[in-house]
Amino acid sequence: MSEENGRLAAELAHLRRGTATKGDPVAPPLTLASMYHLPGDPAGFRQYGRFDNPTWEAVEEALGHLEQAPALAFPSGMGAISAALFANLEAGDRILLPSDGYYTTRAVADRFLKPLGVSVDTRPTAAFLDGGFDGYRLVFAETPSNPGLDICDLAAVAAGARKAGALLVADNTTMTPLGQRPLDLGADIVVAADTKAPGGHSDVLFGHVATRDDRLLAAIRDWRKLSGGIPGPFEAWLVHRGLETLEVRFDRMCSSAEAIAPRLAAHRAVASVRYPGLAGDPSHNLARAQMQRFGFLVGVTFGDARTAERFIDGCRLIQPATSFGGVHTSAERRARWGDAVAEGFVRLSIGCEPTEELWKAIAESLDAAG
Ligand SMILES: Cc1ncc(COP(=O)(O)O)c(C=O)c1O
Repeated sequence: MSEENGRLAAELAHLRRGTATKGDPVAPPLTLASMYHLPGDPAGFRQYGRFDNPTWEAVEEALGHLEQAPALAFPSGMGAISAALFANLEAGDRILLPSDGYYTTRAVADRFLKPLGVSVDTRPTAAFLDGGFDGYRLVFAETPSNPGLDICDLAAVAAGARKAGALLVADNTTMTPLGQRPLDLGADIVVAADTKAPGGHSDVLFGHVATRDDRLLAAIRDWRKLSGGIPGPFEAWLVHRGLETLEVRFDRMCSSAEAIAPRLAAHRAVASVRYPGLAGDPSHNLARAQMQRFGFLVGVTFGDARTAERFIDGCRLIQPATSFGGVHTSAERRARWGDAVAEGFVRLSIGCEPTEELWKAIAESLDAAG
């Protein structure tokens, strides 16, 4: 763990200490409120449940602390992504998306931005710099990409986008702020699905946007307030709780992935492995340069769909499930959703189980599947 991550994680546990008064609960209260007591001039006070909520404020303080930038909470990762896009685009704009990133971002652009007059181009993450960014209003990067785990050079993309006058939005879902810091690398806006490792227990959907640009922050806040795409207080409370243990969970998950990825690559049942932490991975050098950790996602390709499904179903410590980042290791064959990956490609999300117990179960299932 970098020194800065250690400091951020330690301070996170004590953020509320600064404003607590005697007798206050140490944990943030869950506040359910549509109305606030509001006599007279409303300016400067909480006004209405679609505008403000104290439990959002608690989770935004924690997320903002990790991002080192003001953060806004959303009901899902897609809620955060949609806010970043819709608050900043207008007819005639052109945007660039990764062709191999999370497919729903492309679906939103195709289904809802194009009909409003926004042109949408895509490019593979591994070649994201090719062709430059002239003519774009907004460039959206996702690195490592989900599910293929390709990487683009965020500092170079940020410099190119800035030169072209484009905003850079970075989806940091696969890494969390403890694994990669897109704003420090020059991104204008970071978006993330806190549904994944930040929530961490597979029981909540959530997202956030963070930016150090006051104008962008105000526009995205207005989008949330006016569109009504607001998070529920209980979800905010759950994610706050999750964030307090993110550093320990993320550390275990990444360390286990680093230990397990090379063993997977060496197993006879496995055709190939993508993991940025593997020395031979095409993403490795860039990952070393721009990421704090190599992450907890491992791409495992089997010879065919049947072997892949046998591996997932046969492993007693793998949840066969979509999504990732939970305390429980989970996996799925991404081709079942139509992703452009091999039929036998499995996205494996390493959880918090003790590493050697997890490997024992994975190895047993590999032996049986292969
Ligand atoms: C990279 C990435 N971004 C965004 C999302 C969307 O998050 P949510 O499902 O919370 O809307 C996901 C979901 O899997 C994702 O993997």
